[in-house]
Amino acid sequence: MTIIRLHSCTLRPWRDGDEYSLSEQASNRKIWDRVRDFFPNPYTLRDATSWIRMNRSYQNPVNLAIEIGGKAVGNIGFTIKEDIYRYNAEIGYWLGEDYWGRGVMSEVLPAMVDYIFQNFQINRLFACVLEENNGSMRVLTQAGFRSEAVLIKAAVKNNRYLNEHIYAMLREEYLARRESDSLVAKQ
Ligand SMILES: CC(C)(COP(=O)(O)OP(=O)(O)OC[C@H]1O[C@@H](n2cnc3c(N)ncnc32)[C@H](O)[C@@H]1OP(=O)(O)O)[C@@H](O)C(=O)NCCC(=O)NCCS
Repeated sequence: MTIIRLHSCTLRPWRDGDEYSLSEQASNRKIWDRVRDFFPNPYTLRDATSWIRMNRSYQNPVNLAIEIGGKAVGNIGFTIKEDIYRYNAEIGYWLGEDYWGRGVMSEVLPAMVDYIFQNFQINRLFACVLEENNGSMRVLTQAGFRSEAVLIKAAVKNNRYLNEHIYAMLREEYLARRESDSLVAKQ
């Protein structure tokens, strides 16, 4: 079973019993404003149940719950693309508002990047961030993602066209970063 223990939280598969904390934490307009429209709002117990049913049985899960104080309070996951993009994966994440600004995602994202590059045949990892989501852009830059492109007015959210910022990391960049981190650690 995939369990990644970090200082601020634990990453682990979604499981039965997470429904209440999931719907409580995810049902938040401030989160919905920054993610895709398919993310439910309000996020009901029924939504939570179907998310958990979809995600609990994976051997190598693509979505991991962020557990703090025994409760699942966020998610980090990825989607592997198809056809000529089959070595690409898009990463996405959210955290319950009560836990923002404590450095949780700054610790979670690099751990997830390790998990993906070490367990899946992915060559390019990328994230799409809506304009004004400075927290998410900061988390990505700190984890070593490159700001790759800005797609002008590519997204629509709340009836506004918004720029989409693409951040990416190649496997070779990940390996180079790991190498330089381990050299620094040895000094
Ligand atoms: C974006 C999000 C994941 C950040 O998680 P977090 O655990 O609060 O982030 P951290 O505490 O690790 O902060 C990381 C950095 O971003 C900065 N930051 C956090 N929120 C910020 C904000 N709203 N504006 C500017 N900077 C912000 C922090 O100061 C920190 O920078 P520092 O290390 O230089 O001090 C969280 O706010 C969230 O879930 N938002 C809603 C959903 C979302 O935006 N998902 C991503 C879609 S692309």
